[in-house]
Amino acid sequence: MAITSWIRTFPLVQYFIAWTQEIFMSVLKTGPVPQHVAFVMDGNRRFARRRKLEVREGHSAGFESLAHILEMCYQVGIKVVTVYAFSIENFKRPTVEVDALMEIARTKLLQIIHHGDLADRFGISIRVLGQRSMIPPDVLAAIDKSTEMTKRNTTAILNICFPYTSRDDIATSMREIVTKSEKHELEPETIDERLLEQHMFTKDCPPLDILVRTSGVERLSDFMLWQSHQNCTVEFVNCLWPEFEPWRFGSILLKWSRSKAVEFRKMEMERDQKQL
Ligand code: FPP
Ligand code: MG
Repeated sequence: MAITSWIRTFPLVQYFIAWTQEIFMSVLKTGPVPQHVAFVMDGNRRFARRRKLEVREGHSAGFESLAHILEMCYQVGIKVVTVYAFSIENFKRPTVEVDALMEIARTKLLQIIHHGDLADRFGISIRVLGQRSMIPPDVLAAIDKSTEMTKRNTTAILNICFPYTSRDDIATSMREIVTKSEKHELEPETIDERLLEQHMFTKDCPPLDILVRTSGVERLSDFMLWQSHQNCTVEFVNCLWPEFEPWRFGSILLKWSRSKAVEFRKMEMERDQKQL
């Protein structure tokens, strides 16, 4: 066991961590809070390799990390969280790994919709974005159950991208628009950025404010390409996803919140000067 994990087993240390987290959260809630954040949860296999664990255990540790981060997101008031849980490209990985990821998705989806678990506690509506046709039937059943059971929750949204790529999202949107155009449900002249956006998987979500990728790799890997517009902050973090602790995300939130507060103040000053 790593020394930091060992220290955390002491109740007094746990109490101290919980107390400092509580204070940190209160500070975060006083500033502007992003509406929509997204995560590329990268580094699960490297985490497993370094600790001599099975790949499946690395992904399970990744889910535990996700659960902690989601808890923090919804506690500070973030409305939408979008996570890259499975890329269409991931089907090229060894069958044993693909099967393990499918099994984690199936069991964890059923777990988070339990009474008193994450979805219930924070009023989260779960949505699974991507190509349904590529998902095995037993996983699809769990997806349908979790989305159906949480569809009336209105406080927050969890978008699980699975199996997803941005280019497929854009192509799917285009295909729907062309079909509607062929059926004369819309005029080709009305096709613009807004219309494309209205046909994407993230259609009813607020604009993306922050995109985080862990593991030190600095690329988007076909995730949220359309959604990471000019006002979206992209943060590359040099730690593996299972080691991405809430305080790390807290410091990203604090930085974002400070920069937004400065922006708002500047806008207010400009407006006041115009009124003089
Ligand atoms: C990327 O790390 C991670 C994935 C491909 C899977 C992420 C999935 C989870 C954390 C489980 C979440 C499940 C649900 C249902 C939300 P990697 O495998 O590329 O690791 P590496 O970069 O070290 O090779
Ligand atoms: Mg990776």
